[in-house]
Amino acid sequence: MGRAFVYVILGGGVAAGYAALEFTKRGVPPGELCIISEEPVAPYERPALSKGFLLPESPARLPSFHTCVGANEERLTPKWYKEHGIELVLGTRVKSVDVRRKKLLTATGETISYKILLIATGARALKLEEFGLNGSEAENVCYLRDLADANGLVNAMQSCAGGNAVVIGGGYIGMECAASLAINKINVTMVFPEVHCMARLFTPKIASYYEEYYQSKGIKFTKGTVLSSFEFDSNGKVTAVNLRDGSCLPADLVVVGIGIRPNTSLFEGQLTLEKGGIKVNGKLQTSIDSVYAVGDVAVFPVKLFGETRRLEHVDLARKSAKHAVAAIMEPEKSGEFDYLPFFYSRVFGLSWQFYGDNVGEAVHFGDFSGTTFGAYWISKGHLIGSFLEGGTKEEYEAIATATRLKPLVEDLVELEQQGLNFALTV
Ligand code: FDA
Ligand code: NAD
Repeated sequence: MGRAFVYVILGGGVAAGYAALEFTKRGVPPGELCIISEEPVAPYERPALSKGFLLPESPARLPSFHTCVGANEERLTPKWYKEHGIELVLGTRVKSVDVRRKKLLTATGETISYKILLIATGARALKLEEFGLNGSEAENVCYLRDLADANGLVNAMQSCAGGNAVVIGGGYIGMECAASLAINKINVTMVFPEVHCMARLFTPKIASYYEEYYQSKGIKFTKGTVLSSFEFDSNGKVTAVNLRDGSCLPADLVVVGIGIRPNTSLFEGQLTLEKGGIKVNGKLQTSIDSVYAVGDVAVFPVKLFGETRRLEHVDLARKSAKHAVAAIMEPEKSGEFDYLPFFYSRVFGLSWQFYGDNVGEAVHFGDFSGTTFGAYWISKGHLIGSFLEGGTKEEYEAIATATRLKPLVEDLVELEQQGLNFALTV
């Protein structure tokens, strides 16, 4: 025996919240939809955890950042779910799923059945142990994926005021946490193996702008090396970080952001997996008709590039959730998902947006000693990616539109001279 729903969303993160809103907009009757989440709180805007949540003054706290405030939609508080007859099963891990029988089993021993399953299990932070290092259990070693991690980081920051933090990883988490730590008046050193920060996206020229800006805020960089071990005190707290280049950094706090792995394990051997995620078609439907997947966990066809991708960004979580629900509720009306990849970040007073793909030749433009600059990426003669720091709403819209159009670019020198004007007039 157990409960039965028409629609079950597995996972209670960003995509789950946006899917719930779309289900209600499309008139799902009370009692038909259930969200099961390991987290003890209703879906929230995860990006807040590395930004507003870590501020020393007036930090963001729930319920202020429940979904879907991030897209200026309604804010879905627990009361909202109740009013819409959506069952929230929180603090509950799903242990197994049988996609043929359309049933899942929770860690509390309950069986829940469905007609349609929407997988929104997101991803987990990679642990140092997966690279053969020990120490993740120490109370002053922090990861940042969920609210519990964010609370842990806030506590750790409070007990190391004026102290030293080492940030391991030069990606999104590393960059955003380093900025937040510095704002909290903690001395920060970032350590990462690449030659510059944000190596997955930034060109060396873009990276050097942010690195210089960070240095002006007192943040130090140790590049081209990785952690080799921790030093501990008698209470098991980390006191220093040993690096492979032989140096040692004193540490009252360590923040680790070394990438993620999508949560696919429940579906191995049941659904087609590809590129580390769950493969879906243009309707966000997996290899089993009654199962859809969205957000960080989904590998989907990006029409614009003519290939499948897995993306780890909030805009994709929101839009793929919306599209999947449309495909579920009105299959004959909904077309193929046609997504323009969009990433952004905000640190200190800086703010950038990126659209498209960062392959091919990069053409920089604007004033790299000022506040507004950017880059285009040209591949096979077409503009396929655009980056802009310090833009206005109109300018960001212009680079998004230009990127979607994939215009032909014949002269790179002319493009460089035109800069932002190219996007504004395309
Ligand atoms: P998400 O991770 O949000 O949710 C997955 C949910 O599934 C979780 O609630 C989890 O507990 C649950 N779950 C997993 N397995 C389960 C199981 N077996 N049983 C029950 N529940 C289970 N992006 C961006 O574009 N701009 C930004 O500024 C940021 N900033 C940012 C900051 C921080 C700190 C993080 C960690 C991430 C970002 N991101 C971001 C990335 C963005 O937040 C991310 O892409 C989305 O949250 C993905 O949404 P999903 O719903 O796919 O997964
Ligand atoms: P990431 O992939 O952005 O960066 C990982 C970094 O870890 C790499 O840049 C590298 O420097 C480093 N690294 C990898 N292996 C290492 C090792 N063995 N030792 C030391 N360093 C190593 O991942 P992340 O920063 O951990 O971010 C996690 C997730 O959160 C991503 O999905 C990201 O998209 C998301 N996120 C996004 C934003 C945003 O879009 N603004 C903000 C925060 C988090």
